[in-house]
Amino acid sequence: MTRTPLIAGNWKMHKTAAEAVALARAVAEEANRRPDREVMIAPPATALFPVAEAVRGTRLILAGQNVAWEEKGAFTGEISPLMLADCGCAMAIVGHSERRHIFGEDDAMINRRLKGAMNHGLVPILCVGETIEEREDGRTAEVVEAQVRAGLADVNPESGRELVVAYEPVWAIGTGRTATSGQAQEAHAHIRAVLAQMFEKDIAAEIRILYGGSVKPGNAAELMAQADVDGALVGGASLDAQSFAGIINF
Ligand code: 13P
Repeated sequence: MTRTPLIAGNWKMHKTAAEAVALARAVAEEANRRPDREVMIAPPATALFPVAEAVRGTRLILAGQNVAWEEKGAFTGEISPLMLADCGCAMAIVGHSERRHIFGEDDAMINRRLKGAMNHGLVPILCVGETIEEREDGRTAEVVEAQVRAGLADVNPESGRELVVAYEPVWAIGTGRTATSGQAQEAHAHIRAVLAQMFEKDIAAEIRILYGGSVKPGNAAELMAQADVDGALVGGASLDAQSFAGIINF
């Protein structure tokens, strides 16, 4: 099974619209040079529309950093899947560790967001990952499995192909402390085994599982070389065109 590597940049709460347009243009050029890879960015919502205009016709894929489950309504501060699609997004991140840990989103809410995205044709990237305490207690597999099962609850198995999972150990995010390639592979293999139980084996074999947490140009190749690591979800190193290019071209 060959899975096209997906290199995804999560810009988090960074970049004004003008800065975002300039960076997105540079990333789009790199994406066009690598038809063998898919490249995605998730700019802040305030920059999505101008970025979409600037990169129209390129291979660069746009994503929301989060997504609501309803099309519209009284949900102050939220962005609907319809609005993301309207801004040129094809994907949406859900369940990012910062949403879980800073903003208190739980698995049930994340599941609603994921299904909302899928119902509107957006490919969700479901983020999962253990805290350092959970790892030290030997609970990594259990925690990650529970997040995958709850996040994907009630997803029609046939739709399983239309999703991406990202393994992002909380202790590796923004810390400069990346998981070893062995730790990443172990978690990814477990996630794929869980997906095979939830969906069919051949569907699980098609789902891309990204690694996230202090991915840099210098460590990307070794992580991507692991059998079940199908790409990267990059924070800090995606904010600079050159360093992100170094990861796109791992
Ligand atoms: P860093 O690459 O900055 O560690 O962030 C990872 C991340 O959270 C991507 O979603």
